[in-house]
Amino acid sequence: MRGPALRGARETRRAARRAVRGAWAVLLCGWFAAAWLPSGARADAEAGKAKAQVCVACHGPMGNSTNPDYPILAGQTARYLYLELKDFKEGRRSDPRMSPMAANLSREDMQDLADYFAAQKLVPVPYKTDGASIEAGRKKSAEVLCTMCHLGGFAGQNEIPRVSGQLYPYIVKQLQDFRSHTRTNDAGNMASVTRNLSDDDIHNLAAYINNLQ
Ligand code: HEC
Ligand code: HEC
Repeated sequence: MRGPALRGARETRRAARRAVRGAWAVLLCGWFAAAWLPSGARADAEAGKAKAQVCVACHGPMGNSTNPDYPILAGQTARYLYLELKDFKEGRRSDPRMSPMAANLSREDMQDLADYFAAQKLVPVPYKTDGASIEAGRKKSAEVLCTMCHLGGFAGQNEIPRVSGQLYPYIVKQLQDFRSHTRTNDAGNMASVTRNLSDDDIHNLAAYINNLQ
């Protein structure tokens, strides 16, 4: 006669244990979700502004470099900026002037800096050249389907960089670096695209893209 009652009590205890395990699982999931929030969700452009004081010495006020040695960071996508900082820090991309600057940045620093520079407006520095070079660059870009990845007007999105309005000498240097495998943090995308570009192609492409707003 006591059998069913005992079974009932055991079942209740089992159900209670399952409920406690379930609650732990929910708590753990919440914790993991918080730890894995995408960049931007917790990043802070205001904090980035303070941290950017050291960067603007090379990259110009608010990331608007006019010095051919340093790329413009203003208006770049936040995701790409963050990934480049991480690549410099972890040695997948290297440059004697930039690598030491990224070496001691925390994940939060990199997110804040990326958000700050992404939020600034790019001030273009038009490269003066003849219309024929720009037109040749436009044709080459269409032929190679650059905008399949970089989107129309080389505006970029997420991990694909914006290149429109970037300084002419910097675009030339990057295309040469991809072609010579000096820069290899592109998962092979840019290496294969640049393999068959001549020096003239590179100069024309850079003239064309620099003049896109
Ligand atoms: C001493 C000069 C110098 C300072 C200071 C400096 N950088 Fe740089 N940075 C460079 C150079 C040079 C490059 C380009 C390297 C190359 O040609 O590949 C670069 C490249 C970058 C890039 C890649 C841009 C792109 O379009 O791929 C990012 C992002 C960047 N820097 C962010 C920063 C941040 C953030 C700081 C401040 C914490 C900083 N830099 C401080 C010199 C500097
Ligand atoms: C298959 C996709 C793809 C195509 C096609 C492509 N790109 Fe890219 N490009 C990328 C990616 C991804 C990166 C960023 C690599 C990284 O993470 O550092 C990049 C980076 C660049 C950079 C460096 C930007 C910077 O700020 O340092 C330049 C310049 C560039 N591309 C120009 C071009 C041109 C010009 C073409 C056409 C001739 C082209 N790309 C075609 C994917 C592509």
